[in-house]
Amino acid sequence: MRTRSVRALLFGVPMLSGQLPAFDPDAAPAEPFPLFVDWLTEALAAGVREPHAVSVATVDADGCPDLRVVALRDATEAGWSFATRADSPKGRQLAAQPQAALLFHWREQARQIRVRGSVLRADPETAARDFLDRLPGSRAANLVGHQSEVLADPAAFPPALDAALARVESEPDTVDPQHALFTVRPRTVEFWQGVPNRGHVRLRYRHAGEAWTRERLWP
Ligand SMILES: Cc1cc2nc3c(=O)[nH]c(=O)nc-3n(C[C@H](O)[C@H](O)[C@H](O)COP(=O)(O)O)c2cc1C
Repeated sequence: MRTRSVRALLFGVPMLSGQLPAFDPDAAPAEPFPLFVDWLTEALAAGVREPHAVSVATVDADGCPDLRVVALRDATEAGWSFATRADSPKGRQLAAQPQAALLFHWREQARQIRVRGSVLRADPETAARDFLDRLPGSRAANLVGHQSEVLADPAAFPPALDAALARVESEPDTVDPQHALFTVRPRTVEFWQGVPNRGHVRLRYRHAGEAWTRERLWP
């Protein structure tokens, strides 16, 4: 096979193209949450794929950033929530350093939303309710556990999943004690709208004391 340079592969691939929505920061609300709901509603209406897929950045014990995609479970004025295993790398990183950054990237609209803040783990009852809200297959996948551990023998996975599925069926009230719900409580939230060949429009909300401050950013 002929090796081609990545640079050549990328040449001319469009970015920030197509019909993009408008964003008027002067008409933006005083707080970020209503604007997030507006943008999410517009993303769903525009057919953006998986708008609830959000990248979560944490730091490990050496201060090295780590990053992965999770599913947004909910958002309120208090923050953005996702679920994972407490004993996963991200769960352990958040226990040691409860701060995170979130990134939504809705490429069909050339939009990104960045959230930074402290992270709060929900109480076990709330996490249990979130767990039992899930479809049986998803609960079983959770119960298998060992997330991000080395899978030395791939043949070990199917029987482990079958056993977890059987358990979910025979004991439907089973809750995985490692199921954790984390909420990122926003300190800053930035809304970014790409504009082809022009200055991108950026609005950052900053929590200062009790109130939110809004500021435009250079592109
Ligand atoms: C679209 C998408 C949604 C995902 N949702 C979750 C999720 O809600 N919770 C989760 O723990 N992992 C989810 N994952 C898997 C994570 O990206 C990651 O592989 C896993 O959580 C292990 O991360 P860690 O080793 O940093 O703990 C999702 C992956 C993708 C691509």
